[in-house]
Amino acid sequence: MEKFKLKVFRYDPTKDPEPYYKTYELPIEKGMTVLSALFKAKEEQDPSISFRYNCRAAICGSCAMRINGHATLACKVQITHLLEKYNTDTIVVEPIGNVKPLKDLIYDMDWLVDKLKKVKPWFIPKEPPPPDGKEYRQDPYDHHKIDFASDCILCASCMSDCNALKVNKDYLGPMVLAKAYRFAADSRDGAKRDRLEAVLKDLNLEWCVRCWECTTRCPKEVQPYENIIRLRIMAAEEGYKTPGEIHAEIFEKDIYKRGLLNEMLLPMRQEGVIGAVKRAPFGIRMMLKGKVNFADFLGGHKVKRIEEVRKIYEKAKEKKKYVKIKLPQIMGVVYEDKRKNRKRANFTEKLNETANK
Ligand code: SF4
Ligand code: SF4
Ligand code: FES
Repeated sequence: MEKFKLKVFRYDPTKDPEPYYKTYELPIEKGMTVLSALFKAKEEQDPSISFRYNCRAAICGSCAMRINGHATLACKVQITHLLEKYNTDTIVVEPIGNVKPLKDLIYDMDWLVDKLKKVKPWFIPKEPPPPDGKEYRQDPYDHHKIDFASDCILCASCMSDCNALKVNKDYLGPMVLAKAYRFAADSRDGAKRDRLEAVLKDLNLEWCVRCWECTTRCPKEVQPYENIIRLRIMAAEEGYKTPGEIHAEIFEKDIYKRGLLNEMLLPMRQEGVIGAVKRAPFGIRMMLKGKVNFADFLGGHKVKRIEEVRKIYEKAKEKKKYVKIKLPQIMGVVYEDKRKNRKRANFTEKLNETANK
């Protein structure tokens, strides 16, 4: 029978000074998942291998691990597919990234739970339970806004290779932000502002570097990156001044006034004098490289034919509503309230109609 190598990350802090890899040779069986391969190695060759699992059906999220460098659910991927995809005879399994391994493939989950608690990942109803004693109901249109986000199984695959988390372990991360979106966007939820304030704290909506790794890795198509964008839009719509919005406003003013961005004064306008002082060495290096103009300190110059730039600006302003709707849609966000234009009665109206009959 054809065989493959399963190379497993091993670490027992009670006896190993450093982690190491141990390779097990196993027969290639049709339909065998990485999780089944780990079981086979454990049952037939080495009972000391430790890993987490529960449902074995891509539902519980327990078996997330890095497989040949990418986080995924071990119970969802098949050995034959992986060998073909990577054109190899070896499958490497490691704990997901950005975590502290506890033993072999098991990692410390406390940091995830602590982060999650900050966004209260549970339903906080804004109204008392329906008088008929049934469940809180929701218009199907409203449900579409959270349908995909509700599929999150908290597997943390998206946290594994998040580039923002790599440099800032305090960043809430895509899993937590996706969960915050799921509840903040729920039409029945009464804690939207609390949740938004939790994600706006410590610039959590700004740390993402838009690498899209989280969305690529998510085994349930929750779109964590897109949910971060949705949270930003939601925060702006609720009237919060996010750093991103302040940045955009400065850009807008500069373009109208000069047709150019004043990069010399940008940090001071964005972050105040202290922020500008912190960024001074970087500004000086940019100036020495000829990337910014010292004259900008004194207000800088306007582009030629600034009137034409202003005309474009005015036109864009007229189209503001259109741009606001289009931009989120381009990013895969159906977010605007289409109910206003819709012919059919909404869900609550239908319920009332039925009740009055
Ligand atoms: S897109 Fe943002 S949140 Fe997602 S992995 Fe990249 S940095 Fe992290
Ligand atoms: S968003 Fe996707 S990858 Fe992240 S925890 Fe939820 S299901 Fe897993
Ligand atoms: S064991 Fe539950 S998701 Fe893999």
